Amino acid sequence: MVLGKIGFDMAKKIKVGVIGTGMIANHAHLPGYFSIPDEVEVVWLCDKKADRLAENATKWGVSKTTENYHDLLNDPEIDAVSVATPNLEHMQMTVDALKAGKHVLCEKPLSMNADQSKAMCRAAKESGKVLQVGLQYRFCGPGMFMKDYIANGHMGDIYYGRAQAMRRRGVPGWGVFTNKEKQGGGPLIDIGVHILDFTLHLMGYPKPVAATGKTWDMLGKNPKITNFMGDYDRSTFTVEDMAVGMIRFEDGQMVLLESSFMANIEQEFFKTTLMGTKSGAEVCPGFSEDPIVIFSERDKQVFNERPVNIPDVKSSHVKEVQEFVRTIREGGESLVPGEHGLILNAIFDAVYKSSETGQEERIDLSY
Ligand SMILES: NC(=O)c1ccc[n+]([C@@H]2O[C@H](COP(=O)([O-])OP(=O)(O)OC[C@H]3O[C@@H](n4cnc5c(N)ncnc54)[C@H](O)[C@@H]3O)[C@@H](O)[C@H]2O)c1
Repeated sequence: MVLGKIGFDMAKKIKVGVIGTGMIANHAHLPGYFSIPDEVEVVWLCDKKADRLAENATKWGVSKTTENYHDLLNDPEIDAVSVATPNLEHMQMTVDALKAGKHVLCEKPLSMNADQSKAMCRAAKESGKVLQVGLQYRFCGPGMFMKDYIANGHMGDIYYGRAQAMRRRGVPGWGVFTNKEKQGGGPLIDIGVHILDFTLHLMGYPKPVAATGKTWDMLGKNPKITNFMGDYDRSTFTVEDMAVGMIRFEDGQMVLLESSFMANIEQEFFKTTLMGTKSGAEVCPGFSEDPIVIFSERDKQVFNERPVNIPDVKSSHVKEVQEFVRTIREGGESLVPGEHGLILNAIFDAVYKSSETGQEERIDLSY
């Protein structure tokens, strides 16, 4: 028997159950687990939609299926679960899984709000199991390049960031993304979560203390306005279509956050801008032909530089799942711990509240 760092039998396969077999399970979790068949076996699939469940069981060759996630949590063979259901379901499923002694990879956002995320972080702490959030952009090539670049001191102290996830006509036409009750919010919590996480990751996850912000729903409810991401019912659109936040951090940094499903702009963009004492950078973690530009100065000459050796990561989704499995096998804290999901939820809560009160709102991360 070969034992890993924390005494894990490295010959043993991690047995996994996936809860929710929709879009993200099929594009991230299942391809991720099936990319390392020597380390993982997907034993259970769970979905409340019987036809989808049956279709995916055949597609992925998984023999055990259930419409009730407690069935797979009650299976002592299961080591870990993916929670790939709508946001409303994340908290209870994750807490139940951790209490049942399973490691959890929970999709982003960690939950609907900071209170729920606190309960999840508490459950993770009490169980001693891994809680990882599905925030894959950290694992993309530009993210890995910039993390190294910053760690090597080339940006100096980063004191200001802009996190922008802006779509012109991009309301998701599937799932429950336009339903505040089931999602917790609109673009802020759905795509703003990715770009804010990416920005804070590069800044070393400073501790937020307060935020101010504003949300609008000027376009999303209007049936006359076109949409590029499928059809949705305008009369049941209860989320914001755009949000702006300004976040203050303990050590004096600030981040401007902008996120939209719909806005009258030329084209959609997904970008982090960082300003440091030694250089600045614009980084596009999604699909971009020009993902990184660095703004620097040497000997009184200023440069716009484009790195050419950005790591070629085929799928950051697959890498995120592999990282989850590695953490279970080797121990240590996840690279995307539950606490980071909590920080993001707490910032969103403050932005939503500030939009109502018109005032800056304090952020409390204690749990
Ligand atoms: N990381 C990313 O880039 C990314 C991208 C898209 C979605 N997501 C996240 O993934 C989650 C799911 O989104 P999606 O696009 O896959 O949605 P989806 O609607 O395609 O899939 C969700 C699935 O969960 C199932 N489900 C709902 N409640 C259930 C329950 N109680 N028990 C069992 N199954 C249940 C639904 O039937 C559905 O099949 C959301 O939290 C979303 O924010 C992440």
